[in-house]
Amino acid sequence: MSQQQTWSQRFESSLHPAIAIFNASIGFDIELIEYDLTGSIAHARMLGRTGIISPQEAEQLTAGLEQIRQEYNSGQFTPGVEAEDVHFAVERRLTEIVGDVGKKLHTARSRNDQVGTDIRLYLRAQIQQICTHIRQFQQVLLQLAEQNVETLIPGYTHLQRAQPLSLAHHLLAYFQMLQRDWDRLKDVYKRVNISPLGSGALAGTTFPIDRHYTAELLEFDGVYANSLDGVSDRDFAIEFACAASIIMVHLSRLSEEVILWSSEEFSFVKLKDSCATGSSIMPQKKNPDVPELVRGKTGRVCGHLQGLLMLMKGLPLAYNKDLQEDKEALFDTVKTVKACLEAMAILFQEGLEFRTTRLAEAVAEDFSNATDVADYLAARGVPFREAYNLVGKVVKTSLAAGKLLKDLTIQEWQELHPAFAEDIYEAIAPRQVVAARNSYGGTGFAQVEKAIAIARTQLEAN
Ligand code: ARG
Repeated sequence: MSQQQTWSQRFESSLHPAIAIFNASIGFDIELIEYDLTGSIAHARMLGRTGIISPQEAEQLTAGLEQIRQEYNSGQFTPGVEAEDVHFAVERRLTEIVGDVGKKLHTARSRNDQVGTDIRLYLRAQIQQICTHIRQFQQVLLQLAEQNVETLIPGYTHLQRAQPLSLAHHLLAYFQMLQRDWDRLKDVYKRVNISPLGSGALAGTTFPIDRHYTAELLEFDGVYANSLDGVSDRDFAIEFACAASIIMVHLSRLSEEVILWSSEEFSFVKLKDSCATGSSIMPQKKNPDVPELVRGKTGRVCGHLQGLLMLMKGLPLAYNKDLQEDKEALFDTVKTVKACLEAMAILFQEGLEFRTTRLAEAVAEDFSNATDVADYLAARGVPFREAYNLVGKVVKTSLAAGKLLKDLTIQEWQELHPAFAEDIYEAIAPRQVVAARNSYGGTGFAQVEKAIAIARTQLEAN
């Protein structure tokens, strides 16, 4: 086991073992190794190209760094706490492999701009992956929507029956939320993809580096204009955590609906065995664990956003060790969001079945067509508010008589208002109630077909 790092000769002894553990980030920042190596290779190449080191030395550094990549990927390189963090671990191993020239890698660089580069490269890759997961889930929702344009489901406000909907319309609402999530991540990406490399510890460097060259090698879209900002900015991390939290809030709302729908009381969906669990004591139970876990994990991700905001609020410029705390929040956010998107896609693809007979009964047995009666009168010249009051009255008397609106006789309708005719029955049938909401973005079947076509084209962007 190699020794605990001692610092420059200013230090006479090494860290207290407990403090070494307290200080170390290698236990989690090893996750960044791939990006640390890529960033270091770009830095080494820049040092060679600008003549800060010789081209041969740059070659040696690059080859050594690639060897570490292989060693890590094959499980041979497993640095421990003595390395403190991934950056020191790599530099030490490099020096073991290539000899003293390895000690030149850190010329014109600080761990401050290095770690900033690593996290940005990491987040960049993760954002792409999360976007792919979003697309997959959108695809599943869209397919389900296509199959259910004419399936009706009660629509709610205040969790009270409001107006019936096309199930496709309901599912497409989540499709559009996810579309905004996708757009938001693409937007965050723009601010993630700026290079801090070459900011040095905080003030830049005395060497004739070429920041634009490293940025180009690493496919960054630009470089930080200010070195202090470059090393201490974590806005992009907060923005990412915010975008991730919003994704989770969307998934959590959908989860809550599935949980309600799968209850005996609603019985709108049946959970398939592949996505539900039983109880250890109550043999009749089938529990919606997937949506419950997604709902539960939402708290964690939103917590990380708070954590990052609080991490930053009191930090003076520039780097402070507090910033080491950004990583676990980001790693856990990424892992959780990916897992939840994947689980929800599986749940909707194969884990639940809409109980269409039950849904058809549900929309037929309530007063969710009352607005349509008022609209019927309003379309025949009765001022809407007056019509609304009349229908309120008829709902009240029907409730008292244990009847639904469809059970009223034509005489009863005409006593209420002479404008009613036989076509009232057609106007209040659930299918017609849905079909008639043909305003742009509404649940009318013709609109839903258009919305499906729009969603298809939205999915084509990448
Ligand atoms: N492990 C550190 C982090 O994650 C790397 C940067 C350390 N920089 C320093 N000046 N101590 O933030």
